[in-house]
Amino acid sequence: MQPSRRKLSLFSSEMAAMKARKNNNLSIFAVVFSVFIFGVFMYNEDVKSIAEFPFSSPKTEKVQEQSQKQSSPVHNALQTEVSESSRFQLGTNTEESESELESDESVNLKSSVLKEDEEQRNQKLEQLPAVAEEVDDDDVELPPEECDLYNGDWVFDNVSYPLYKEDECEFLTAQVTCLRNGRKDSLFQNWRWQPRDCSLPKFKPRLLLEKLRGKRLMFVGDSLNRNQWESMVCLVQSVIPPGRKSLNKTGSLAVFKLHDYNATVEFYWAPFLVESNSDDPKMHSILNRIIMPESIDKHGENWKNVDYLVFNTYIWWMNTFTMKVLRGSFEEGSTEFDEIERPVAYGRVLNTWMRWVEENVDPNRTTVFFSSMSPLHIKSLDWNNPDGIKCAKETMPVLNMTAPLEVGTDRRLFYIAMNVTQTIKVPVHFINITALSEYRKDAHTSVYTIRQGKMLTPDQQADPATYADCIHWCLPGLPDTWNEFIYTRIISDS
Ligand SMILES: *[C@@H]1O[C@H](CO)[C@@H](O)[C@H](O)[C@H]1NC(C)=O
Ligand SMILES: *[C@@H]1O[C@H](CO)[C@@H](O)[C@H](O)[C@H]1NC(C)=O
Ligand SMILES: *[C@@H]1O[C@H](CO)[C@@H](O)[C@H](O)[C@H]1NC(C)=O
Ligand SMILES: *[C@@H]1O[C@H](CO)[C@@H](O)[C@H](O)[C@H]1NC(C)=O
Ligand SMILES: *[C@@H]1O[C@H](CO)[C@@H](O)[C@H](O)[C@H]1NC(C)=O
Ligand SMILES: *[C@@H]1O[C@H](CO)[C@@H](O)[C@H](O)[C@H]1NC(C)=O
Ligand SMILES: *[C@@H]1O[C@H](CO)[C@@H](O)[C@H](O)[C@H]1NC(C)=O
Repeated sequence: MQPSRRKLSLFSSEMAAMKARKNNNLSIFAVVFSVFIFGVFMYNEDVKSIAEFPFSSPKTEKVQEQSQKQSSPVHNALQTEVSESSRFQLGTNTEESESELESDESVNLKSSVLKEDEEQRNQKLEQLPAVAEEVDDDDVELPPEECDLYNGDWVFDNVSYPLYKEDECEFLTAQVTCLRNGRKDSLFQNWRWQPRDCSLPKFKPRLLLEKLRGKRLMFVGDSLNRNQWESMVCLVQSVIPPGRKSLNKTGSLAVFKLHDYNATVEFYWAPFLVESNSDDPKMHSILNRIIMPESIDKHGENWKNVDYLVFNTYIWWMNTFTMKVLRGSFEEGSTEFDEIERPVAYGRVLNTWMRWVEENVDPNRTTVFFSSMSPLHIKSLDWNNPDGIKCAKETMPVLNMTAPLEVGTDRRLFYIAMNVTQTIKVPVHFINITALSEYRKDAHTSVYTIRQGKMLTPDQQADPATYADCIHWCLPGLPDTWNEFIYTRIISDS
């Protein structure tokens, strides 16, 4: 039924390749990590664990909750230097980027509502009729079910792309509006994904909205899934007249409502899917990330009766080589944890997720997607650019697609997710975005973004080695393509 189920032969060969690669990330590297605040140097337990890898064995430690609380704001301010020689320097990058989000969102301390028409003054949106036009789905050609949408090429297409304009989607946050934030090149908006054996159907917002009528589409996961959610909001909002759409961010949930369709496009913050100490949508910049791999119901309550669910979890796993797993529960005030190998903990989490889906999703009503990992581009030698600085100088994708690009993605997690989505009793569409996104070193927000709620200063922008965000993506941009896969699936279902 879905492409992922046809790949069993590929799977075994890639497993072998993966095993061969498995041990190449163990280089020891130096981490220089100093924080000066209130005259005190603080020591980061996470960095210690990275530095010790792979020789550290699982151990029990006390959670220093008090010092965590204190170090959250500290961490926002800290300057970090991580050895360029390691692929796994992302700890700090992730942390920096996630803390950006935190502050970005903490602007809206309580439930905040952004009414579209309140921000309408300088918008030149055409006044569209409130009644939807005829949906012209005649000329939308659906790809054959058996076509592998994820094998293909990036094709320059400045006629059809971007699918919307940055300044015509007022719902974009400053984190992703790269052109407004000063990015000069815009070719990154003009690439179309062309599957090898078929074509993606033309994106028609009204066609999608007809399918979503009276329904809920929800993205669940981390900031990359939110990146994709913002893209989806922009993809559909252009055909909705002012005042007939609204955005309500409350706690972990952001709901974009399309009133005339009684439809919602939602995002739910759960960076590990299961319960963790990083679940607060605003205050989640936590050094000691601790999860409860078997605990998902608290979040899952919010996913029930949703018609389209899109899950992901990856970037928050990449700070450390091991994952801290709580003994007991946060509610009971437990503070002891074990350190478990990343893939082992990831497998436990996805098994918990699988059980939740099997027990709570009615496949006759709900369609489930799981997105594979969104890659990072933090080492320009990965694409043979000795003059590069992380992703900061990249304006073109990697166009030689004869082999997958190795940018340090932990493919072990890819295969765990793929396996789980194949084993699960409810059909799950595995959105295989990883390899095709690895070619898109040009598409990150880099220094054209915010940090701790503020635009990077010119000085910071001039220092991409420290400040470039090579995790998140500009919009319009790559996540629009990810949504085209979801669009294709949704409009293909009758
Ligand atoms: C995912 O897509 C890439 C190409 O983008 C392909 O090489 C790989 O085999 C695919 N993997 C699966 C499991 O579909
Ligand atoms: C599209 O790209 C072509 C080739 O680079 C260029 O000649 C043309 O002016 C571009 N069109 C637009 C609308 O940017
Ligand atoms: C609107 O959609 C919700 C599901 O999202 C449904 O429960 C409700 O009945 C719908 N209301 C109308 C008036 O169709
Ligand atoms: C926003 O959502 C929250 C939670 O569902 C709700 O309590 C609040 O009334 C909503 N605000 C508006 C203006 O719709
Ligand atoms: C789903 O629909 C099929 C066919 O209409 C039906 O046989 C089956 O019992 C339904 N399953 C559930 C869980 O409702
Ligand atoms: C494309 O990449 C492959 C594998 O990395 C390499 O062998 C080949 O020489 C490259 N081709 C070109 C034209 O650069
Ligand atoms: C795939 O998942 C099944 C069930 O969860 C498990 O038994 C099997 O060991 C897994 N295989 C791999 C290669 O991860």
